[in-house]
Amino acid sequence: MKLNNNTILITGGTSGIGLAMAKRFISLHNKVIIAARSTDKLKAVKELLPQVETIQCDLSKPADIDKLVHTVEQEYPKLNVLINNAGVQYNYHFLTEADIHTKAIHEIDINLTAPIRLTAHLLPLLEQNGDAAIVNVSSSLGMVPKANAPVYCGTKAGIHIFSKALRYQLKDTKVFEVVPALVDTAMTQGRGKGKITPDQLVDEFVRGFERDKYEINIGKVKILRLLQRIAPALADRIISGKD
Ligand SMILES: NC(=O)c1ccc[n+]([C@@H]2O[C@H](COP(=O)([O-])OP(=O)(O)OC[C@H]3O[C@@H](n4cnc5c(N)ncnc54)[C@H](OP(=O)(O)O)[C@@H]3O)[C@@H](O)[C@H]2O)c1
Repeated sequence: MKLNNNTILITGGTSGIGLAMAKRFISLHNKVIIAARSTDKLKAVKELLPQVETIQCDLSKPADIDKLVHTVEQEYPKLNVLINNAGVQYNYHFLTEADIHTKAIHEIDINLTAPIRLTAHLLPLLEQNGDAAIVNVSSSLGMVPKANAPVYCGTKAGIHIFSKALRYQLKDTKVFEVVPALVDTAMTQGRGKGKITPDQLVDEFVRGFERDKYEINIGKVKILRLLQRIAPALADRIISGKD
């Protein structure tokens, strides 16, 4: 994929990985539109990056997704890259969590259903514009799960397989998957060691994107996937966090 002169929609572009991607693509001379839930955060990003276009959208609400799609079609008809990045992770135990349904459904809606809806709605525009790509942000936890985030891990495994199957289906739109391990963002505040920065992730992502590397394993994920092939039980033990 070319790295400039694209029109790119990034979901969850107000913090962490999405914000770092937005900054990088702006510096590379692309039109960047970010969509996220909090209007305050969108305003703050607009102040920081005046070139960015912002759209308020709660991706857990189908009506908001329809509005987002309509706005993009009307105002940014040259869209050729969709980056499904927004995500949430909740940690809970199925035996003790009181609000399991709300949390699980929220994770599924934002992490899995929203990317599928956006893909379905925006694919005709992407195909029409050509030189098109869909980038889905999954996680190492979609390959090797951890005990306290079963639904999150399930959504990321779903995004992995969805991306792969869609790649088989589509001839003209390229389907990328970015597979990060721990990145230092709001999502991972207060947990984990050896995190990389969002900018380090973006360095690797951009290299893979430019070379049409469709599965972009970031940092330690390369080692994890190798370990998963040669010693799967060990990989599970390292990540699972089981007692
Ligand atoms: N950080 C890691 O270690 C790590 C590792 C592997 C994969 N990932 C994946 O990377 C992606 C980005 O995560 P991050 O670490 O950068 O997280 P983050 O800093 O918490 O950012 C999450 C982004 O998603 C948006 N978002 C959340 N709920 C939304 C909703 N209902 N509607 C619209 N936007 C919503 C947030 O905007 P609002 O605040 O406005 O809601 C924010 O912009 C996620 O898919 C995550 O699963 C992260």
